[in-house]
Amino acid sequence: MTAKISTKDAQALGDSKAIISNQEGIHEKLDDVVKKHLTHSFQKPYQAHTQAAFKEMDALVAAFLQANPEGEIILDACCGVGQSTRILAQQNPQALVIGVDKSDHRINRNVEGFDSDDGFDADNFHLVRADLNDFYRLVKAAEWPVSKHYILYPNPWPKSKHLQRRWHGSAVFPQMTSIGQQLILRSNWRNYLAEFQQAAKLVDLHGEISSLPESSPSQALTPFEAKYQASGQVCWQLLLQR
Ligand SMILES: C[S@@+](CC[C@H](N)C(=O)[O-])C[C@H]1O[C@@H](n2cnc3c(N)ncnc32)[C@H](O)[C@@H]1O
Repeated sequence: MTAKISTKDAQALGDSKAIISNQEGIHEKLDDVVKKHLTHSFQKPYQAHTQAAFKEMDALVAAFLQANPEGEIILDACCGVGQSTRILAQQNPQALVIGVDKSDHRINRNVEGFDSDDGFDADNFHLVRADLNDFYRLVKAAEWPVSKHYILYPNPWPKSKHLQRRWHGSAVFPQMTSIGQQLILRSNWRNYLAEFQQAAKLVDLHGEISSLPESSPSQALTPFEAKYQASGQVCWQLLLQR
């Protein structure tokens, strides 16, 4: 499955700046922050809109599993416009793919190259607007049988003082990392993945970081991946296995 790149998007490609951080290497407070979150429960109340979105998805997951007892659930967290969600659905017809993003604007944006005229015919996916700080806790409590959990190009928050805004520094890290047999993270900032990899060891999840082969924009899994690669940046992947 390939994405169609519009002229406007093509102009925007190739001018993405590499990450600049005032932090050298892994954050010195990383282990302390992760251990704090592992020993304190995250009790922030759920937002109503995410609770409602989860309820809707949970009903779809239950119906899918009833019809396909051996079926698998793939979670595409921070899915943006949902290009990766659509590609994963096409590549995994046996699965139900759920794409989650907090941005209504992105979720509802048209993604060129994914109409029936383009040969796209997958209907085994859903995009939902929700805050993952809440959604992850609800998925964990509901014990969805997630096979693959993608987190593609999350916001890097490169300033040292923003460690706790990165997913591995967030209070939901324990629940987040309990979801999926495999966790697949991608970033153009290798340090983000190195930190996640180190944090994951504290929950007994292990895996390796590798660079993605260069590809054309139309082969990229997501628009951010296309943008970074068109700018000559290396895209990295961390694959964690349970
Ligand atoms: C850099 S974009 C990457 C989007 C897409 N994966 C891609 O590669 O094109 C990061 C995305 O994460 C989403 N995001 C950030 N924090 C989130 C949260 N707490 N809950 C849900 N989505 C979130 C943003 O709305 C944004 O769409």
